Formats: sequence, C-alpha cells, structure tokens
Amino acid sequence: MDSLLHVQNLTVRYGADGQRPKSALCDVDFELAGDEALGLLGESGSGKTTLALALLGLLPPGGSVERGAIWFRGTNLVAAGPRVLRKIQGAEISLVHQEPALALNPVMRVADQVIEVLRAHQHLTGQQARAKSLELLAEVGFAPESGITDAFPHQLSGGQRQRVVIAQAIACRPALIVADEPTTALDTAAQREILVLLRDLHHRMKLALILISHDPAVLAAAVQRILVMYAGRIVEDGPAAQLLQNPSHPYTRGLLRCGLPVIPGSAQARRFDCVPGEPPDLAALSPGCAFASRCPERMEVCGVCAPAETRLAQAQRVWCFKYE
Ligand SMILES: Nc1ncnc2c1ncn2[C@@H]1O[C@H](COP(=O)(O)OP(=O)(O)OP(=O)(O)O)[C@@H](O)[C@H]1O
Ligand code: SF4
Ligand SMILES: [Mg+2]
Repeated sequence: MDSLLHVQNLTVRYGADGQRPKSALCDVDFELAGDEALGLLGESGSGKTTLALALLGLLPPGGSVERGAIWFRGTNLVAAGPRVLRKIQGAEISLVHQEPALALNPVMRVADQVIEVLRAHQHLTGQQARAKSLELLAEVGFAPESGITDAFPHQLSGGQRQRVVIAQAIACRPALIVADEPTTALDTAAQREILVLLRDLHHRMKLALILISHDPAVLAAAVQRILVMYAGRIVEDGPAAQLLQNPSHPYTRGLLRCGLPVIPGSAQARRFDCVPGEPPDLAALSPGCAFASRCPERMEVCGVCAPAETRLAQAQRVWCFKYE
C-alpha cells in the first residue's frame, strides 16, 4: 500500500498522579492510503477519540504515548517537536469535532472564522484571504449570495455550523481529515448532508478521511474500509461492505446483530445493547482477550493470552483465537 499514515503498535495511557493508569490504546496498528476513507467503529470508551487526538498530537494532560509510532509523510509524529506538530495540525491533518458550536467563535462572522484559519497557516493579504474564504464556503455549499458567509454561528442550524467547521478543516488543503462523530449532534436530514459532503470532499479534493462513529450505518454511507475497536484494541479490519455484511470477530457480529439502524442525534441513545455485559476496566485488564468476559464463543486459551493478528485475506484482519 502507498500509505500516507502508518500507525505502528500505538499504545496510549491515561494516568494522572495517584490514579491507576488506564490503557486507552494498546498496540493499534494500521496503514491508511492517501485516497482512502476509513471508518473507526466501536462503543463508548473503546478509544476512538484518543486515537484521533493522538494522530494530531493533541492528547489531553495525563495522556501519553507509551510506545509505538505515528508515521505521517515520513515524519514520526510521536517523536516530533511542538513546531513540527503545529505546522501539521489543521494544515496537513484537520480535526472535525462532534459539536460544531464549540469549535466556532460565537462573536465572529462565518467568513472571518475561515479567514482566521487561513491566515494562521498561509501568508495571504486580507483581500486574498477573504476571496479564498468565500471559495471554501462555496465548496461546502454556501454561495456568497446566501448571506450565510456574513452570519454569526447562532444564526445557523447545527448542520450549517458543521459545514463551516468543515470549510475551516479543508482551508489549507489537508491530506487527511479526521472527523470524530461529526453527525452525532445533528438531526437525520443534516446527518445525511454532512456525510454526503465529507464523502464528496474526499473524492473531489482527493483527501484521506478517518470517520469515527458509534453507528455502523453512518460508516456504511461514507467509507470504504472499517476498523472495529474494542477496549483500545483493533479487533477487526476489512472492506466496509464485507465487514458489515459478513463480520468475523464475535464482537463485530454482536454489535451488528441489531442491523444497521440510523437513530437521529444518537450518541447517547444508541449503545450496543445487543452485546450483553460491560467493557472491561481499562485500569485493571486481565491477561487474555479483552472481549473474553462478554464473548459467547470464549475458549480456554482466550483467558490466557491476547490473540494476535490473523490475516484472513489481503485486506482483512481479525484478532481472535478462532482464526489463529
Ligand atoms: N482525559 C482523560 N483522562 C483519563 N481518561 C480518559 C481521558 N479521556 C479518555 N479517557 C478514557 O480513555 C478511554 C477511551 O476514551 P475515548 O474517549 O478515546 O473513547 P471513545 O471511543 O471516543 O468513546 P465515545 O464513543 O464515548 O466518544 C475511556 O476509558 C475513557 O474514560
Ligand atoms: S479470542 Fe476468544 S474471547 Fe476473544 S473474541 Fe475470539 S473467541 Fe471470543
Ligand atoms: Mg469519542
């Protein structure tokens, strides 16, 4: 694969002083091609946001990379200094959050917010930046005559605000957009529009996309490949259509048993209740497969050590003793 990004054995811990350290990511390993749209699927607490933040060098205080590497265009971001990271953040890798209202400045007009991002990374005159900002807003569906470009965030719907955030995210023509539950706070119609927009930008601008979601239906609409995460580990990786129709890992099978419904505005409403039991405590993991306590297909070996990667086909990997 001609990869843009290679995450190698990435292991991340959270542990403020006096707390038991939590293993939020463990040996996460995957590659992403420059023209690929990849989905990260997993229930709450599986490490999706931690992975997104690690890719941007934005782990919160208390979070640290314990081992592994993040190779992006030949640079290991784990070892990179703040100057290199600042150059990459928002310019080569952009992050789109779940809640657009928090990403925008409430007292600044829409076009000015895009101008601000442009001027942080590029040397442009005021006039050039304004023209570029209007171009970017047109790319996400706002014509100058729509009046949106001069509106304040509170005058826009949630979907319109998320479009503005996406205009900021593409402002410097990044090679990769990481979108962390970008449709969760939106109604059904806006969810669909944002997914179509992300998919179009991925094709039109030839940028790589990592789309994070709880909801398999969201990923089915927008990505070619899916990584399934459980308790900070990748448990399955494969082409989206194949993985969703014919999952291999017992966890993926469990969470897809409920079909592929789209529940409006649903991060909280939608949990994978069809997998009985709770995820393990990441501060007190037992040896063995992290899914063992909930797995209906558990075997004796599953409690002894963790399963290694098994390649089922060229582009399909699974971590489960059933396949070793
Ligand atoms: N700042 C932090 N300090 C300590 N622990 C954290 C912190 N952020 C996340 N965690 C823990 O790390 C684990 C992974 O969390 P993360 O937010 O990455 O999961 P997620 O898959 O994004 O979940 P969700 O679907 O709810 O957004 C969880 O156990 C969480 O409690
Ligand atoms: S390794 Fe064992 S416990 Fe883990 S998913 Fe496979 S069968 Fe289940
Ligand atoms: Mg998250």
